[in-house]
Order: sequence, then C-alpha cells, then structure tokens
Amino acid sequence: MERVIIFDTTLRDGEQAAGGTLNVREKLEIARQLEKLGVDVIEAGFPISSAGDFEAVRLIAQEVHTPTICALARAHPDDIDRAWEAVKEAKHRRIHVFLSASDVHLLYQLKKSRQEILEMSRSMVARAKSYTDDVEFSPMDASRTEPEYIYQILEAVIDAGATTVNIPDTVGYAIPDEFGKLIEGIFQNVPNINRAVVSVHCHNDLGLAVANSLESLKRGARQVECTINGIGERAGNASLEEIVMAIKTRKDFFNLTISIDARQIYKTSRLVSELTGFLVQPNKAIVGANAFRHESGIHQDGVIKMPITYEIMDPRTVGIPASSLVLGKLSGRHAFQERLAELGYSLSETDLNRAFAAFKELADKKKEVADKDIESLIAQELRTVSEFYRLDRLQVTCGDRGIPTAAIRLIAPDGQVLADAALGTGPVDAVYKAINKIVMVPNALTEFSVKSVTEGIDAIGEVLIRIESDGITYTGRGADTDIIVASAKAYLNALNRLLAAKKASQEGG
Ligand code: KIV
Ligand code: ZN
Repeated sequence: MERVIIFDTTLRDGEQAAGGTLNVREKLEIARQLEKLGVDVIEAGFPISSAGDFEAVRLIAQEVHTPTICALARAHPDDIDRAWEAVKEAKHRRIHVFLSASDVHLLYQLKKSRQEILEMSRSMVARAKSYTDDVEFSPMDASRTEPEYIYQILEAVIDAGATTVNIPDTVGYAIPDEFGKLIEGIFQNVPNINRAVVSVHCHNDLGLAVANSLESLKRGARQVECTINGIGERAGNASLEEIVMAIKTRKDFFNLTISIDARQIYKTSRLVSELTGFLVQPNKAIVGANAFRHESGIHQDGVIKMPITYEIMDPRTVGIPASSLVLGKLSGRHAFQERLAELGYSLSETDLNRAFAAFKELADKKKEVADKDIESLIAQELRTVSEFYRLDRLQVTCGDRGIPTAAIRLIAPDGQVLADAALGTGPVDAVYKAINKIVMVPNALTEFSVKSVTEGIDAIGEVLIRIESDGITYTGRGADTDIIVASAKAYLNALNRLLAAKKASQEGG
C-alpha cells in the first residue's frame, strides 16, 4: 500500500478564514495537538505577513519535532529569506513557494507574462533550495490555468529543486473528474515528475474540496493539503477529518495508508473550534454533534441490534468519548483527573490544581458536570491570554422597568483596583460601557453570541465575541453559569488580546 502525506494548513490557510485570528500561544497549542494527531507536515504560517506570524512559525519550529514544519513564501527573495529565518531551527523544515499561474491572475493582478512567471518560479525555488532540501512549489489558481503551461512550470521548478509540487484549486472551481484528469495529465506530461511528490490543495467554494482531493489521490497524488474542520479562506479548505476517515473507512477502495491517529480527531476538532471561535455545524461529517446520533426509530432499533446496520464508523475510532460520565460535587480529584485523561488532557500539577479548583467551584453551582462542561472549564482556566485586566467584581441591575446599570471592578496590569459604573440599553451593554470607561481602548463590537454548553437550566453559558480595532479582529471567549459574567469575561478576553497584540507590535517596532 502506498502512503499519503497529510499536510495540515489549519494554522496558515485555516487562519486566513475571516475572523479566525489566533495568537502565538494558541498556534503552538494547536501545533502540539496536530503532532499528536500524527500529521506529516504542519504549515505553520506565512512569516513575512506579520511579526506575530513569524514568531508563531519560529516557536513551532523550535518546539514541535515530529512533523515537518513548513513556512509559506511568495516568489520574492525577501519572503523566502524570512520563511527560512522562521523555520531554520526545526528538526524537519520546508519552504513553500507560491506564484500565480492562471492568465486571469497574470493579466489583472501581476501584470506579467507567462515567461516572466516561469523565470521567477524557477529562480525563487532555487533560492529556497539554497536553504533547505525540502522545497514545495504551488502554481496558484492551477485549476484555471492551461494544463500545458502548468506542465512547463512544474518541469522547471523540479529541475530547480522542488521536491513537492502542489496543485491548488485556489478558488474552488474544479469538478472531481476534471481535476483528476489534470493530475493524470501531470503524470503523463511532466518528464521529471518522478523526482517530486504531487500534492493537491482544494478549496470548498462549490462544496467539492474533499471530493476533488480524494479523486486526485485515486489518480496518483500522494500529498493532500487540508485543515481541521475544513476552515480556511472563504468557504474553507478540504476537511482533514473527512479525508482521513474516507481513506481509513474505504481502505478497500483507496488502498492507501496514512500516519494519522484518528482517535485524536475529535479532540483536535474541539480545540480548533474553541480557539478560533468557529462553531462546528451539527451535521458536519465525522465531528458534528449529530454525526453519530440516530433519531429515527428504525435506525435506533438497528443500531441497538448491531451498530454496523446504520453506522459505518465506530465513534470511538475518532475519539468521541464512549460514555458521557457525569461528575458532581462529591467527585474527588482522582475521578476528575481520570475523566481528564479519558478526554485526552494531560495537565501539569499546577494546571491540574487550577482546573480542579475551578471544577469544585462549578460543581457547587451545577448539580452535574458533564464532559462538555469540563472542556469549557479547561479552555477558561488554562487558555487565558497573559491577562492585562482581570474581572474582580460585577453587579448589574436590569428588568423591564429600571434602567440597566452595571458596576464593575477590575484588577489592572499593575495590580491596581479600578472601579466604574455605566448605564446601557441592556445589562451586557451596561457592562461593556463600564469596562470601556476603565480600559479606554477604542474598538467596535462586530459579533456577540451566547450558547449553553449542555442542556438544563443550570448550564454553563459560553459567550463568543469579536471586536475590531484598526482593521484587525480579536476574538474573546468567556464561560460562566451566569451569562452576564460570561459576557464580561469574553469582552475582557478580547480586550486583553488586543492589548497584547498592540504591545507586541510596539515592541517589534
Ligand atoms: O489556495 C491557494 O492557492 C493557496 C496557495 C498558497 C497554495 O493557499
Ligand atoms: Zn489555499
């Protein structure tokens, strides 16, 4: 059986999804989880695009050792040099150079001839090769490019040292049979193709990203680029979990192997959803809340008698916890730790102490603490950004007669206790106005949503907000059994990210 290389671009193309910005620590946490999942390559970012992206790629290169760490670069010397600076400390490192190839891009965007593009591709691959043996090249918008021209570019870049040639369906325009033929044509018409791995990178504008990727594997591609939960630019990229489970479940059809530990899929999906703030739709294949739920009586009857009647995969194979054991206020530290281990968390002693204290506090308010509560609690306790402002006290009055009023007390970065109060159109508005009076950072609220983590009136409420400042979006999350407190925490979380980013950009000059 031949092996397929799983190239994960959640941290690069996935992060390009509107509103999905991650900070450096969050990227590192996702990279560590991707390593556990067993991906072969992590595209960690686009180092020239910002100081934060450079820092994230560099940190991942230093800390994550099993997968190859890849950095993206346009076909410009500065981009390639910066990409190398970011990945050079990785155990396995790759530079991924891309350049548009389609006539529409050449004519309207780059204003260059095909000959010029060919020359730039060749020389920039050679430059990347002077740094590392592992060089990938992508002719952007390949699915809308004349195949003969793609063949010429690929031959030239392989001669210049490219070891992977990636065929992007940049705008998600391709149809499986047509895209498959392009891949087949590449094997037939590029004389030196046996010196490189053929890769595909499909976008989901027509909902065909996974179908196009799988078709390409049938026609000989041996690397597939994908993201967790299918996040990415516009309608997203091919979803990693769908590709992986198609290859595994239909081994009889594909006859291919991959190095992924599928039991890590669910956890990775939850982590990416938590950190990016992008919810997974309930009917999403493999990781959606309904993916393994049977509603019809006939189906339930079949599954009880024999799961394979209506289940083509065992949910446990993708890491969906077998039981949803419920903990409560009498549960001890040991039971809590065991449950954490079953959910895939291994915490340091300090983090465990913090998480256990938070669990006890929650169990006092809520009779039953379910797995989803624990996940939310871990996210709250262990993933807070280095806090500038911390919520100390909050009090609101609201109702159908009075004027919503909020009084807030925050602990400032220097430990000072700051308090203020404000009126608003509702309790959340009053809370945000009171916080604004203290923090004084201009921003616009662009998204606010609240959802309950579990069923029941005592459920934890999780608030997700996005704020914008100087054209950049910052996401904030907060959870509490009181949704006004959760809203305040979410807002402070977003403000703290904004302040951290501003501080980093000032320090970086
Ligand atoms: O979609 C695309 O073409 C890309 C390239 C950078 C590979 O993301
Ligand atoms: Zn892309």
